[in-house]
Amino acid sequence: MTDLPPTVPFGLPSDTGGKDLGVFMPMANGGWILSKNAPKLDGSYDYNRKVAIAAEAAGLDFIMAMAKYKGYGGEIRQWESTLDSVLMMAALAEATSRVKVWATIHTILQNPGVAAKMIATLDQISHGRAGLNLVTGSYKGEFAQFGAWPEGVDHDGRYDLAYEWIGAIKRLWSEDKVTMHGTYFQLEDATSWPKPSRQPFTVCAGTSGKGMQFTADEMDAIFLSGGDPVQLGHASRAAKETAAKQQRYMRTYSMMTVVFGETDAQAQATADHFRAGLDEEALNGMLRAYGFFDREQGGKENAFVEKARSTFMAPYVLGTPETVTDRLSELFEVSGTDGLMLIFPDYLTGVPLFGQEVLPKLRERFPGRVPEVAHG
Ligand SMILES: Cc1cc2nc3c(=O)[nH]c(=O)nc-3n(C[C@H](O)[C@H](O)[C@H](O)COP(=O)(O)O)c2cc1C
Repeated sequence: MTDLPPTVPFGLPSDTGGKDLGVFMPMANGGWILSKNAPKLDGSYDYNRKVAIAAEAAGLDFIMAMAKYKGYGGEIRQWESTLDSVLMMAALAEATSRVKVWATIHTILQNPGVAAKMIATLDQISHGRAGLNLVTGSYKGEFAQFGAWPEGVDHDGRYDLAYEWIGAIKRLWSEDKVTMHGTYFQLEDATSWPKPSRQPFTVCAGTSGKGMQFTADEMDAIFLSGGDPVQLGHASRAAKETAAKQQRYMRTYSMMTVVFGETDAQAQATADHFRAGLDEEALNGMLRAYGFFDREQGGKENAFVEKARSTFMAPYVLGTPETVTDRLSELFEVSGTDGLMLIFPDYLTGVPLFGQEVLPKLRERFPGRVPEVAHG
């Protein structure tokens, strides 16, 4: 707990005890399961539109789309088809009226003048529901294929670039004319109108030392990785303490795949079925992108590979709605995190069930919910 004031006028009070619950939109084919036995999510706009409407009807707080430019292959051709993040969220802003709409932009792909305008446009379309997930880009092949990989700029250097990028954008959102001479970006009497109606919500999944420092310095929230509540708690406290040193309050989120069953055993059987259909080639494609084959395999990496063989690309919880409610409550209680971004094997059954059976109990157990923003 901290008594620091909130830094953003986004209706996200510094610490209400309430949780922000949203959906990681399935805009990449295959969703987040590397299995030939998983439901065949096509990543299409029509499917995503139904999911967005279901998320809003369920009472969830936000929907977010990642940005991805290269898939992992295999028989399932995992993530080889992906929609553009900003365009999709702009369309979904029209399809919804209450849920917050967060889009992802890569700092190495978009000029800050373009990105500032994209999010200001999303703010106008959504009537103040816009958010930006900033990513620096990690996997060379994804960007080198377009000739867009900044050679000679290492991992931490890409966060230096991101400081300049977001600094330029915040100024373009609020100032008449911006002149800025940076290492990576030059702005000369630059203008950007319209201004967003409120400071758009910003989030980043900077989990490395430099990434977390950047996120704590500049963003409203951080996505932490991992599903172990104790480890998540350590990461969450470290992130909040880093932000507190800058007199800032930062919300901490993580991801979770929810696999429902009529019994816990049935949910486990579904997970076993997914595991039996592991697409080895797609798994290797993912590990290759992560750089696993470029370096020696250590113990930590082996543990990661073993986890990935479950076919789940994100932490997961299995069981009846009651079991899922208990596990998620425990996760929040132990970790002290402020929210979750949810993934489902089949969103069109999972999202409504979550809304009916799990969400009301979580709201009850963790009151102090964030007030809703304006209707679009
Ligand atoms: C919830 C979440 C969403 C992410 N979305 C994207 C994305 O859309 N595109 C992308 O290239 N990387 C994405 N990433 C990767 C992060 O931006 C980041 O590179 C990664 O967490 C490693 O942290 P680091 O950059 O501090 O090393 C995401 C990570 C998480 C946990």
